[in-house]
Amino acid sequence: MKKIGILGTGIVGKTIANRLLQLGYEVKMGSRTSNNEKALNWLSTAGPNAQIGTFEEVSIQSDIIFNCTKGEAAEEAIRLTGIENLKSKILIDLSNPLDFSKGMPPTLIPQYANSWSMGEAIQQLCPDTFVIKTLNMVNCEVMVNASLPGENGSMFICGNDSESKKTVSKLLQEFGWNDIIDLGDISASRGMEMLLPIWLRLWKATGTGHLAFKIVR
Ligand SMILES: NC(=O)c1ccc[n+]([C@@H]2O[C@H](COP(=O)([O-])OP(=O)(O)OC[C@H]3O[C@@H](n4cnc5c(N)ncnc54)[C@H](OP(=O)(O)O)[C@@H]3O)[C@@H](O)[C@H]2O)c1
Repeated sequence: MKKIGILGTGIVGKTIANRLLQLGYEVKMGSRTSNNEKALNWLSTAGPNAQIGTFEEVSIQSDIIFNCTKGEAAEEAIRLTGIENLKSKILIDLSNPLDFSKGMPPTLIPQYANSWSMGEAIQQLCPDTFVIKTLNMVNCEVMVNASLPGENGSMFICGNDSESKKTVSKLLQEFGWNDIIDLGDISASRGMEMLLPIWLRLWKATGTGHLAFKIVR
């Protein structure tokens, strides 16, 4: 059985962790500290296949790792894994570089927008890791249940390693995604992250976060 690590104790980390447990994976949730309250709460009801630990412990003990950390702190969180511990592993990055400092709606952090991205920054930080960007442009409940909006949308994926993209695509299929579009190397993260401003407007305009982009062709 594959061991999947989750970097992040927020709603996204918890939602993905619970779905992976349902699918039969062993899941280890990580945070900056080994006794994080949210992680302990999750562990208390998550069952025998769940564990918690630090970002570093999660990275050492997992084959595939989801980055579910706050965008502005994601690079720091990845550094705390020990970088070396991520070597030759798949790191699925679904974080968004959002700046909430001026309230809602958030804006993209300029240093990660347009000609750079969080996906590329993380790949640069851990060059021997297979960083795959996906899922960042849907709400976390939709991430793990593609049909939640009523019908399945399209899911974008990018990264430098084809085999890793195939592995992650199988996982996405387990979440219900059946129209997965490979946008190429990790620099496609730029466009995927720049979908956030339009996603936020769609959320406001439709009154629901249970929506997805669907590419008709
Ligand atoms: N909400 C959604 O539906 C949705 C959809 C798409 C993408 N996303 C993206 O998913 C990510 C997670 O979102 P979230 O709302 O679940 O959680 P969040 O509150 O954005 O992030 C929580 C995690 O970030 C870590 N963190 C915070 N500050 C840190 C620092 N200075 N150094 C290192 N780590 C730090 C926390 O560590 P501790 O555990 O130690 O506190 C925690 O594990 C974000 O990047 C978000 O943009 C969210």
